[in-house]
Amino acid sequence: MRSATMKPGRELHEEFYQVSPCILESFPRFRLPLDTFEFREHIAQLVPLTRADQRISKEQRQEILDKSGQGLIFVARKDHSIYAKHISKQLDLVLMDSNLKASEIALIFQQALTDRLEAFLNQPVASVFSDLRTDLLVLTEYLWQDLFRIKDIKKHLWSDHSQARHGVNSTFVGLALYMRLYEGELRRKHLDDVALGLLVHDLGMCKIPAFIRGKATPLNREEREKIQEHCWIGTKLLHALDVRADSILKQALEHQERLDGKGYPQKLSGKEISILGQLCATVDSYCAMTTHRPYAEAQSPDSALAALSQSSGYNAKMVRALQGVILAG
Ligand SMILES: [Fe+2]
Ligand SMILES: [Fe+2]
Repeated sequence: MRSATMKPGRELHEEFYQVSPCILESFPRFRLPLDTFEFREHIAQLVPLTRADQRISKEQRQEILDKSGQGLIFVARKDHSIYAKHISKQLDLVLMDSNLKASEIALIFQQALTDRLEAFLNQPVASVFSDLRTDLLVLTEYLWQDLFRIKDIKKHLWSDHSQARHGVNSTFVGLALYMRLYEGELRRKHLDDVALGLLVHDLGMCKIPAFIRGKATPLNREEREKIQEHCWIGTKLLHALDVRADSILKQALEHQERLDGKGYPQKLSGKEISILGQLCATVDSYCAMTTHRPYAEAQSPDSALAALSQSSGYNAKMVRALQGVILAG
C-alpha cells in the first residue's frame, strides 16, 4: 500500500500538471474550460474527473477545489493553449502557479503582453495603460524572484512584425541586455522603468497613418518626416498619461538617435544621448532587423549583430553585450 503523502512521479509531470486552487477558482464557476484528472493515490494513477465545458454542480466544484488543495487535481499539458489563454487574461496567476515549466510561462507572457500592448496602441488611454503596466509588473516581479528566468523569456520572440510584437520583442531582448550590463547592481524600480520604456518606445507610431507604417516601397521625403514625428508624439502621449520618469520618456524620445549624430528627432550625438536611449536604440534596431517587415526580410541574428557592430551609430560596449545575450542561447 502506498502512503497517503505519495506524490505523482516525474513521468506524469511530462504530460500533466497540477492545478492549484487559486487557478481553479479563477475559472468559470460551473464549467471548467478543459478536462481535469484526479490522482488516485491507492492505484497511483490519474483518472478522468470532468470534461471540458461539462456542467458541474456546486458540490462537485467544492470537491475539486478541496482536492486541488491536496495536490490531486491535474490537467493535460496538451491543453496548455487553453490554460495559457485563461491565465494570460489574469497574468498575476502565473506568479502563483508552480506547476508550469519556464518555457510555458514565457509563452504566456509573450502572448499576454502582446495582446495588452495591442489594445493600448489601439486606444492609448489611462485605463488601458494601467492594465498594460500591471501586466508588465507581473513580468518584472517574476524576473526579480529569479534573474535567471530571463534566459527563457528572451527566447520567446515573434518572427513577424506588428507594432505590438515589436514592442514585446524589444522588451524581452532589452531586459536581457540591461540585466547583463547591470548585473549585480540591479534595482527593482529601475527594472520596472526600463521594461516600460522598452515596451512603449514606439507608442507614437499609433498616430502615424497605417499606409505609411505598412508601406512596402521606399518612403518619400514627406512620409519619412511624418514617421520621424513618432518619437515626439510618443513622448507627449506618455506625458499626458502622467509618466514622468526620465528613464521611460528618454527611451521613447531618443531611441532613433545615433551616436554619430545621424539619427533623429534632435540629431543628438555621443553623450548627449542618455544611456537608456542608447540601449533602446541598440535593441530597437536589432529587433527590427531580425523580424520580417513589410519592406524588408528578416536578417539572421549574426548578420544583424555584425551590422550593428560595424555602424558608428551604436554604443560598441552595448553591441558586444547584446552579442553575448543573443549568442548565449
Ligand atoms: Fe521608433
Ligand atoms: Fe522600435
